[in-house]
Amino acid sequence: MTALFSNTLLGAAVAPMAVSAESTDYTWITRFQSLAYIVAALLFILALAGLSKQESAQRGNNLGIFGMAFALVATIWVVIDGDKDNTALTVGLIAGAIAIGALIGVMLARKVEMTQMPELIAMLHSFVGLAAVLVGYNSFIEQPGANSVENAFHMGELGLAVFIGAVTFTGSIVAYLKLSAKISGRPVTLPGRNFLNLAAIVVSIGLIIWMAHTRSLAAGLLPLVILTVISLLLGAHLVLAIGGGDMPVVVSMLNSYSGWAAAMAGFTLGNDLLIITGALVGSSGAYLSYIMCQAMNRSFISVILGGFGSDGAGASTEQKDYGEHRETTAADVANLLKESQSIIITPGYGMAVAQAQYPVAELTRKLRDMGKDVRFGIHPVAGRLPGHMNVLLAEAKVPYDIVMEMDEINEDFADTDVVLVIGANDTVNPAAQEPGSPIAGMPVLHVWEARNVIVFKRSMGNAGYAGVQNPLFFRENTQMLLGDAKKSVEEIVSDL
Ligand code: TAP
Repeated sequence: MTALFSNTLLGAAVAPMAVSAESTDYTWITRFQSLAYIVAALLFILALAGLSKQESAQRGNNLGIFGMAFALVATIWVVIDGDKDNTALTVGLIAGAIAIGALIGVMLARKVEMTQMPELIAMLHSFVGLAAVLVGYNSFIEQPGANSVENAFHMGELGLAVFIGAVTFTGSIVAYLKLSAKISGRPVTLPGRNFLNLAAIVVSIGLIIWMAHTRSLAAGLLPLVILTVISLLLGAHLVLAIGGGDMPVVVSMLNSYSGWAAAMAGFTLGNDLLIITGALVGSSGAYLSYIMCQAMNRSFISVILGGFGSDGAGASTEQKDYGEHRETTAADVANLLKESQSIIITPGYGMAVAQAQYPVAELTRKLRDMGKDVRFGIHPVAGRLPGHMNVLLAEAKVPYDIVMEMDEINEDFADTDVVLVIGANDTVNPAAQEPGSPIAGMPVLHVWEARNVIVFKRSMGNAGYAGVQNPLFFRENTQMLLGDAKKSVEEIVSDL
C-alpha cells in the first residue's frame, strides 16, 4: 500500500513543481505557498503513519489525497500568478497535462488485476525516474549560470537528479518487462558485472564533477549527455542481473530510488515540498525493502548484487521423498468445520490468483454466525506485495480485528482445531526450519502445530514461489483439497 501511495505522492508532486522555481518574488502568495507546503508535508507524514495499520489505512490515504490536492492548488496558483502575461497558455498546459495523466491513470487502474500490481508499480516508478531526468534537463537549459559556487552546486544537484532518475527509469522498465513475463525473469549477467557497475558509478561521479566546473551551456551539455547514457545503461544492467524471484524487493528498492530522484529534483528546483516528499518516499521505500528481505531471510546486499532468485518455481532441484499425501473433499471439510471451534485461515498467493477472497469472507461470516472462533494469520510476504492479503481481505469486508500478523498468531496454532491454508505454500513450509533447505531461516506460520490442516491447492505437481517441496502436505494431520481455491471454498460454503 505504501508503495502505491508513494507513487501517487511523487506522480502528483514532480510535474507542477517543475515550473515553480520561476516564482522568486516573496509576495503574500509565495508566503501562502510556503504555508501550504508545510501543511501538505505534515499531511503526508500523517498519511504514511495512517497507512501502517489496516484500521487507519483509509484515513491515511485520504489525508495523503487531501495534502496533495492542497499542494497542487497552491503550486498551480503560484505558477499562474507568476506568469500573468501567459495565463491562458499556462492554465491550458497544466490542465492538458493533468487531464492526459489522469485519463491514462484511471484507464490503467480500472483494468489492472491485483496480481499485476507489482508490474504496474514498476511502470509508475519509471515515470518518476523519467520526470526527474526531464526536470534536470529543463533546469540545465534554463540556468546555464555563471561560473560560481552556486552554479557548481546547481550542476551537482541536477547531475545527481539525472543520474538517479535515469537509473530508476531503465531499471523500472526492465523490472516491468520481467514481472509481466515480456522478457525472461532469469538473471542476465555480463562477465565482470560488478566491475562494470562500479566503473559506471565512478565515471558518473567524475562527469558530475566535470559538469560542476563548466562555464557555459555548450560545455556542460557533453558531460550531461554522457552521464545520462551511462546511467540509463547502468539502470538496465543492474536490474537485468537480478532474478525474477527477487523482483518484488527490487520494485520496492526502485520505489526508494524514485523518491531520492524526486528529492534531488527538489534541490534543483529549490522546492522544499518536493525535497520532503522525495525523502519520505525514498526512506519508506528503503525501509520496506529491508522488511521484505528480513521476511524472506535474504540479505539486502545479496538482492542488490543480483544473480540470484531465478524464476521462482523450480529454483530448487533437490526434492526429498516425504511419503504419501491424503486428499479430502469439500463436503468432508464442511463437516470438520462444523465440529471445530477454533479456526485459523492462512491465505497466500493462490487466494489472489483464484480471486477467492469473496467466498472466503462469506465462509468466515457463516462460521462466525455459527459461533466459531475464526481468525486470519497473515505472513508478511504472503502473496507478491507487502500487504497483498490485507488489501484483498479488506476488499471483501473481512473485519480487521480478526486479521492477525504472523507474530501475533504463531503461538496459537497449537491450540487450534483447524487451519485452512488457502493458496499458501512457502509461507507455511516447515522446511524453513531444516538447516540446508533453500528457504532455511525464513520465518513461517507454524500451521502444522494445529490439530487439523486443510491445504487448498490445484495440484500436487507445483511447488511454491521458492520452488521448494513442502513437507506440510505429507504430514499426518494434513489433508489436501485439490482444485481451484474459489470453487472449493464456494462448495464448502454451500455444504455448510
Ligand atoms: P506461494 O509460495 O507462491 O504458493 C502459492 C500457492 O498457491 C501454491 O501452492 C499454488 O499451488 C497455489 N495456487 C495458485 N493458484 C491457485 C488457485 N487458483 N487455487 C488454489 N491454489 C492455488 O505463496 P505464498 O505462501 O503466499 O508465498 C509467497 C511467496 O512469494 C514467498 O516465497 C515470498 O518470499 C515470495 N515473495 C513475496 C513477496 C511479497 S512482498 N509478498 C515479495 C517477493 C517474493 P498450485 O499451483 O498447485 O495451485
